[in-house]
Amino acid sequence: MTRKVVIYGGSGGIGSATARILHARGYDLHLVGRSEDKITAIAAELKASFTIGDVNDSSLFPRVAEDARDALDGLVYAVGTINLRSFQRLTEADFLNDFRVNAIGAALAIQSALPALKKSKAIASVVLFSSVAALQGFAFHGSIGMAKGAVNGLTLSLANELAPRVRVNAIAPSLTRTQLAKDILSNVQMTASIAELHALQRLGTPEDIAAITAFLLSPEADWITGQIIGVDGGRSTLRTKG
Ligand SMILES: NC(=O)c1ccc[n+]([C@@H]2O[C@H](COP(=O)([O-])OP(=O)(O)OC[C@H]3O[C@@H](n4cnc5c(N)ncnc54)[C@H](OP(=O)(O)O)[C@@H]3O)[C@@H](O)[C@H]2O)c1
Repeated sequence: MTRKVVIYGGSGGIGSATARILHARGYDLHLVGRSEDKITAIAAELKASFTIGDVNDSSLFPRVAEDARDALDGLVYAVGTINLRSFQRLTEADFLNDFRVNAIGAALAIQSALPALKKSKAIASVVLFSSVAALQGFAFHGSIGMAKGAVNGLTLSLANELAPRVRVNAIAPSLTRTQLAKDILSNVQMTASIAELHALQRLGTPEDIAAITAFLLSPEADWITGQIIGVDGGRSTLRTKG
Protein backbone atom coordinates (compact mmCIF):
# COMPACT_ATOMS: atom_id res chain seq x y z
CA MET A 1 0.00 0.00 0.00
CA THR A 2 1.43 3.41 -1.00
CA ARG A 3 1.57 5.79 1.96
CA LYS A 4 0.71 9.44 1.43
CA VAL A 5 2.34 12.29 3.40
CA VAL A 6 1.90 16.07 3.37
CA ILE A 7 5.03 18.11 4.16
CA TYR A 8 4.65 21.79 5.06
CA GLY A 9 8.06 23.35 4.41
CA GLY A 10 8.67 20.68 1.76
CA SER A 11 11.08 22.98 -0.08
CA GLY A 12 13.13 23.72 3.07
CA GLY A 13 16.32 22.09 4.33
CA ILE A 14 14.75 19.49 6.63
CA GLY A 15 11.46 19.24 4.69
CA SER A 16 13.12 18.55 1.33
CA ALA A 17 15.62 16.06 2.82
CA THR A 18 12.65 14.21 4.36
CA ALA A 19 10.76 14.34 1.06
CA ARG A 20 13.74 12.80 -0.76
CA ILE A 21 13.97 9.88 1.69
CA LEU A 22 10.22 9.24 1.49
CA HIS A 23 10.25 9.45 -2.33
CA ALA A 24 13.04 6.86 -2.44
CA ARG A 25 10.85 4.62 -0.23
CA GLY A 26 7.89 4.92 -2.61
CA TYR A 27 5.71 7.38 -0.66
CA ASP A 28 3.22 9.61 -2.42
CA LEU A 29 4.00 13.24 -1.45
CA HIS A 30 2.17 16.55 -1.27
CA LEU A 31 4.50 19.49 -0.60
CA VAL A 32 3.67 22.94 0.75
CA GLY A 33 5.92 26.01 0.55
CA ARG A 34 5.89 29.75 0.17
CA SER A 35 8.18 30.39 -2.78
CA GLU A 36 6.73 29.14 -6.07
CA ASP A 37 10.15 28.55 -7.68
CA LYS A 38 11.41 26.36 -4.87
CA ILE A 39 8.28 24.29 -4.36
CA THR A 40 7.69 23.64 -8.08
CA ALA A 41 11.34 22.56 -8.52
CA ILE A 42 11.28 19.97 -5.73
CA ALA A 43 7.75 18.83 -6.63
CA ALA A 44 8.88 18.19 -10.23
CA GLU A 45 11.99 16.31 -9.02
CA LEU A 46 9.95 14.06 -6.71
CA LYS A 47 6.80 13.84 -8.86
CA ALA A 48 4.84 15.33 -5.96
CA SER A 49 1.70 17.44 -5.90
CA PHE A 50 2.01 20.80 -4.17
CA THR A 51 0.30 23.87 -2.73
CA ILE A 52 1.89 27.32 -2.64
CA GLY A 53 1.05 29.63 0.25
CA ASP A 54 2.01 31.34 3.49
CA VAL A 55 1.08 29.84 6.86
CA ASN A 56 0.19 33.38 8.01
CA ASP A 57 -2.78 33.14 5.66
CA SER A 58 -5.44 30.88 7.23
CA SER A 59 -6.98 30.05 3.84
CA LEU A 60 -3.84 27.99 3.06
CA PHE A 61 -4.81 25.09 5.35
CA PRO A 62 -8.18 24.12 3.82
CA ARG A 63 -6.58 24.58 0.38
CA VAL A 64 -3.88 22.06 1.27
CA ALA A 65 -6.52 19.62 2.55
CA GLU A 66 -8.42 19.98 -0.72
CA ASP A 67 -5.32 19.69 -2.92
CA ALA A 68 -3.95 16.65 -1.03
CA ARG A 69 -7.35 14.88 -1.04
CA ASP A 70 -8.45 11.45 0.28
CA ALA A 71 -6.71 9.48 2.98
CA LEU A 72 -3.44 10.69 4.47
CA ASP A 73 -0.95 8.57 6.39
CA GLY A 74 1.30 11.35 7.60
CA LEU A 75 1.74 15.07 8.13
CA VAL A 76 5.02 16.93 8.69
CA TYR A 77 5.05 20.58 9.75
CA ALA A 78 8.65 21.70 9.03
CA VAL A 79 8.08 25.45 9.00
CA GLY A 80 9.67 27.74 11.56
CA THR A 81 11.65 30.81 12.50
CA ILE A 82 14.95 31.59 14.21
CA ASN A 83 14.56 35.03 15.72
CA LEU A 84 17.38 35.52 18.21
CA ARG A 85 17.35 38.86 20.03
CA SER A 86 17.91 40.16 23.52
CA PHE A 87 14.67 40.15 25.46
CA GLN A 88 14.57 43.96 25.52
CA ARG A 89 14.70 44.12 21.73
CA LEU A 90 11.90 41.62 21.09
CA THR A 91 8.67 43.32 20.02
CA GLU A 92 5.05 42.23 20.23
CA ALA A 93 5.22 41.67 16.45
CA ASP A 94 8.16 39.24 16.98
CA PHE A 95 6.26 37.29 19.62
CA LEU A 96 3.14 37.09 17.46
CA ASN A 97 5.00 36.11 14.28
CA ASP A 98 7.08 33.40 15.97
CA PHE A 99 4.00 31.99 17.70
CA ARG A 100 1.95 32.08 14.51
CA VAL A 101 4.51 30.44 12.21
CA ASN A 102 5.77 27.78 14.65
CA ALA A 103 2.79 26.88 16.81
CA ILE A 104 -0.55 28.12 15.43
CA GLY A 105 0.43 27.11 11.88
CA ALA A 106 1.14 23.59 13.14
CA ALA A 107 -2.22 23.45 14.94
CA LEU A 108 -4.16 24.67 11.89
CA ALA A 109 -2.30 22.29 9.58
CA ILE A 110 -3.27 19.33 11.79
CA GLN A 111 -6.89 20.49 12.14
CA SER A 112 -7.32 20.70 8.37
CA ALA A 113 -5.61 17.35 7.77
CA LEU A 114 -7.41 15.46 10.53
CA PRO A 115 -10.38 14.10 8.53
CA ALA A 116 -7.93 12.69 5.94
CA LEU A 117 -5.54 11.35 8.62
CA LYS A 118 -8.45 9.54 10.28
CA LYS A 119 -9.20 7.83 6.94
CA SER A 120 -5.73 6.24 6.89
CA LYS A 121 -5.82 2.44 6.81
CA ALA A 122 -2.64 2.51 8.90
CA ILE A 123 -1.94 4.38 12.13
CA ALA A 124 -1.38 7.93 10.86
CA SER A 125 1.65 9.91 12.05
CA VAL A 126 2.16 13.64 12.65
CA VAL A 127 5.69 15.04 13.06
CA LEU A 128 6.16 18.56 14.42
CA PHE A 129 9.33 20.58 14.96
CA SER A 130 10.36 21.87 18.34
CA SER A 131 13.88 22.99 19.26
CA VAL A 132 16.63 22.23 21.75
CA ALA A 133 15.86 25.73 23.06
CA ALA A 134 12.38 24.76 24.30
CA LEU A 135 13.60 22.44 27.06
CA GLN A 136 16.86 24.21 27.95
CA GLY A 137 17.43 27.90 28.59
CA PHE A 138 19.43 29.73 25.92
CA ALA A 139 19.88 33.50 26.09
CA PHE A 140 18.25 35.48 23.24
CA HIS A 141 15.71 32.70 22.60
CA GLY A 142 12.84 34.30 24.55
CA SER A 143 10.43 34.42 21.62
CA ILE A 144 11.38 31.25 19.73
CA GLY A 145 11.77 29.29 23.00
CA MET A 146 8.24 30.31 23.98
CA ALA A 147 6.80 29.37 20.57
CA LYS A 148 8.56 25.98 20.49
CA GLY A 149 7.44 25.34 24.08
CA ALA A 150 3.91 25.68 22.72
CA VAL A 151 4.73 23.08 20.04
CA ASN A 152 5.75 20.69 22.84
CA GLY A 153 2.43 21.29 24.62
CA LEU A 154 0.50 20.75 21.38
CA THR A 155 2.40 17.52 20.73
CA LEU A 156 1.59 16.06 24.15
CA SER A 157 -2.06 17.08 24.20
CA LEU A 158 -2.82 15.85 20.68
CA ALA A 159 -0.86 12.62 21.10
CA ASN A 160 -3.29 11.77 23.89
CA GLU A 161 -6.44 13.11 22.23
CA LEU A 162 -5.86 11.50 18.83
CA ALA A 163 -4.62 8.09 20.05
CA PRO A 164 -4.89 5.32 18.99
CA ARG A 165 -5.65 6.34 15.35
CA VAL A 166 -3.03 9.10 14.99
CA ARG A 167 0.44 9.30 16.56
CA VAL A 168 1.91 12.75 17.28
CA ASN A 169 5.61 13.38 17.99
CA ALA A 170 8.00 16.32 17.80
CA ILE A 171 11.67 16.49 16.92
CA ALA A 172 13.81 19.00 18.80
CA PRO A 173 16.93 19.70 16.74
CA SER A 174 19.97 21.68 17.76
CA LEU A 175 21.57 24.03 15.21
CA THR A 176 21.25 22.41 11.78
CA ARG A 177 22.79 23.51 8.46
CA THR A 178 19.79 24.93 6.60
CA GLN A 179 18.74 28.28 5.13
CA LEU A 180 16.89 29.05 8.36
CA ALA A 181 20.20 29.19 10.24
CA LYS A 182 22.11 31.03 7.50
CA ASP A 183 22.81 34.17 9.54
CA ILE A 184 24.42 32.16 12.35
CA LEU A 185 26.24 29.85 9.93
CA SER A 186 27.73 32.79 8.01
CA ASN A 187 30.02 33.43 10.99
CA VAL A 188 32.56 30.61 10.65
CA GLN A 189 34.19 31.21 14.03
CA MET A 190 30.89 31.28 15.88
CA THR A 191 29.74 28.14 14.05
CA ALA A 192 32.92 26.29 15.10
CA SER A 193 32.50 27.28 18.74
CA ILE A 194 28.83 26.26 18.75
CA ALA A 195 29.80 22.89 17.21
CA GLU A 196 32.23 22.34 20.12
CA LEU A 197 29.34 22.65 22.58
CA HIS A 198 27.97 19.39 21.17
CA ALA A 199 29.41 16.13 22.51
CA LEU A 200 29.43 14.87 18.91
CA GLN A 201 31.47 17.96 17.90
CA ARG A 202 29.50 19.08 14.88
CA LEU A 203 26.28 20.78 13.84
CA GLY A 204 23.33 18.88 12.43
CA THR A 205 22.65 18.27 8.74
CA PRO A 206 19.20 18.19 7.17
CA GLU A 207 19.75 14.46 6.57
CA ASP A 208 20.35 13.84 10.32
CA ILE A 209 16.93 15.27 11.07
CA ALA A 210 15.18 13.82 8.02
CA ALA A 211 16.23 10.27 8.96
CA ILE A 212 14.32 10.37 12.26
CA THR A 213 11.40 12.20 10.64
CA ALA A 214 11.05 9.41 8.07
CA PHE A 215 11.34 6.82 10.85
CA LEU A 216 8.55 8.48 12.88
CA LEU A 217 6.32 8.43 9.78
CA SER A 218 6.94 4.74 9.18
CA PRO A 219 5.07 1.74 10.66
CA GLU A 220 8.31 0.85 12.48
CA ALA A 221 7.45 3.71 14.86
CA ASP A 222 3.90 2.49 15.47
CA TRP A 223 4.41 2.30 19.25
CA ILE A 224 5.88 5.81 19.57
CA THR A 225 3.65 8.76 20.38
CA GLY A 226 3.73 11.82 22.62
CA GLN A 227 7.53 12.13 22.43
CA ILE A 228 9.71 15.18 21.98
CA ILE A 229 12.87 13.68 20.59
CA GLY A 230 16.17 15.53 20.80
CA VAL A 231 18.24 15.11 17.64
CA ASP A 232 21.03 17.35 18.73
CA GLY A 233 24.50 15.80 18.92
CA GLY A 234 24.02 15.50 22.68
CA ARG A 235 23.47 19.24 23.21
CA SER A 236 20.35 18.89 25.38
CA THR A 237 21.73 16.35 27.83
CA LEU A 238 25.55 16.27 27.78
CA ARG A 239 27.87 18.88 29.24
CA THR A 240 31.03 19.34 27.19
CA LYS A 241 32.80 22.04 29.22
CA GLY A 242 33.40 22.58 32.91
N1 LIG B 1 17.79 24.69 11.18
C1 LIG B 1 17.90 24.73 12.50
O1 LIG B 1 18.96 25.03 13.08
C2 LIG B 1 16.71 24.34 13.35
C3 LIG B 1 16.91 24.20 14.74
C4 LIG B 1 15.81 23.90 15.54
C5 LIG B 1 14.56 23.71 14.98
N2 LIG B 1 14.40 23.85 13.62
C6 LIG B 1 13.06 23.69 13.08
O2 LIG B 1 13.04 22.77 12.00
C7 LIG B 1 11.95 23.09 11.11
C8 LIG B 1 12.46 23.11 9.66
O3 LIG B 1 13.42 24.15 9.55
P1 LIG B 1 14.54 24.21 8.41
O4 LIG B 1 15.82 24.44 9.13
O5 LIG B 1 14.39 23.09 7.45
O6 LIG B 1 14.15 25.59 7.71
P2 LIG B 1 14.29 26.08 6.17
O7 LIG B 1 15.37 25.36 5.47
O8 LIG B 1 14.36 27.56 6.24
O9 LIG B 1 12.90 25.64 5.53
C9 LIG B 1 11.70 26.24 5.95
C10 LIG B 1 10.58 25.80 5.04
O10 LIG B 1 9.37 26.39 5.51
C11 LIG B 1 8.81 27.22 4.49
N3 LIG B 1 8.28 28.43 5.11
C12 LIG B 1 8.94 29.31 5.89
N4 LIG B 1 8.10 30.28 6.30
C13 LIG B 1 6.90 30.00 5.75
C14 LIG B 1 5.63 30.61 5.78
N5 LIG B 1 5.42 31.74 6.48
N6 LIG B 1 4.59 30.03 5.11
C15 LIG B 1 4.79 28.89 4.40
N7 LIG B 1 5.97 28.26 4.33
C16 LIG B 1 7.01 28.81 4.99
C17 LIG B 1 9.96 27.55 3.56
O11 LIG B 1 9.46 27.86 2.27
P3 LIG B 1 10.14 29.03 1.41
O12 LIG B 1 11.58 28.62 1.27
O13 LIG B 1 9.38 29.00 0.15
O14 LIG B 1 9.99 30.29 2.21
C18 LIG B 1 10.73 26.25 3.59
O15 LIG B 1 10.11 25.29 2.76
C19 LIG B 1 11.40 24.44 11.59
O16 LIG B 1 10.26 24.24 12.39
C20 LIG B 1 12.52 24.98 12.46
O17 LIG B 1 12.06 25.87 13.46
C21 LIG B 1 15.44 24.14 12.80
